[in-house]
Amino acid sequence: MEIIYAQNNLKLGQIAARWVAREILVCPNLVLGLPTGSTPIGMYQYLTLLYQEGIISFTQARTFNLDEYVGLTADHPQSYAFFMSEHFWSKVDLPIENADIPRGDVSDLAAECRRYDDAIQNAGGIGVQILGLGSNGHIGFNEPSHNMEIHTHVVDLTPATIRANTRFFSFSGAVPRQAITMGVGSIMRARKILLLVSGESKRDILSKTLYGPVSTEVPSSILQLHADLTVLTNIKLLR
Ligand code: GLP
Repeated sequence: MEIIYAQNNLKLGQIAARWVAREILVCPNLVLGLPTGSTPIGMYQYLTLLYQEGIISFTQARTFNLDEYVGLTADHPQSYAFFMSEHFWSKVDLPIENADIPRGDVSDLAAECRRYDDAIQNAGGIGVQILGLGSNGHIGFNEPSHNMEIHTHVVDLTPATIRANTRFFSFSGAVPRQAITMGVGSIMRARKILLLVSGESKRDILSKTLYGPVSTEVPSSILQLHADLTVLTNIKLLR
């Protein structure tokens, strides 16, 4: 595991974007696993800049997003499809057919889960997975639980996640109660993982993630077992 310290959120975005850019330059047809949330916004902004400067291109890349809310259409402003379109897909030259995200608005969610896993497998699996960290240790929407799901699945969001994500909705009742998320299997099978963690409020969960016992109650702790994990954070952990 490598830990990279970023002085602030701005630097975190720049370093993350350069890290991803390096991967794209080495492997233009990279399969990228992508996160949403407030933490990666800076990374998407700097990736857009690097693209505009002609340094990188995504024409041969493929991307798979981690998760989506159940019940939200892609044009709902709080859907993750909308977020991706606003922050990344519409800003760079990634062919739209190369950008995949689970659909939370379909009637047959089980079929959508199977479709997503098949699509990831047909692409050869995730090469580089970028992750954010939920304040309860979720990765994607793999929530604390008694077990860990390997495959893409539908998950009931925990009260802590609903509370944390209420800030993006008008009121807590508007936050979807379920999500569809890539499983821990696809994440852990990625060749490389970059975990982005920003803000003092995540100090405790970051410490549990990296140095606590590996437990399904802290899903992110499984990342300790990954052979090529880079953690990029603006939190200085004393250890
Ligand atoms: C959301 C997403 C996660 C994300 C996390 C952290 O619930 N499902 O994929 O990593 O929350 O978000 P933020 O970066 O806004 O703290």
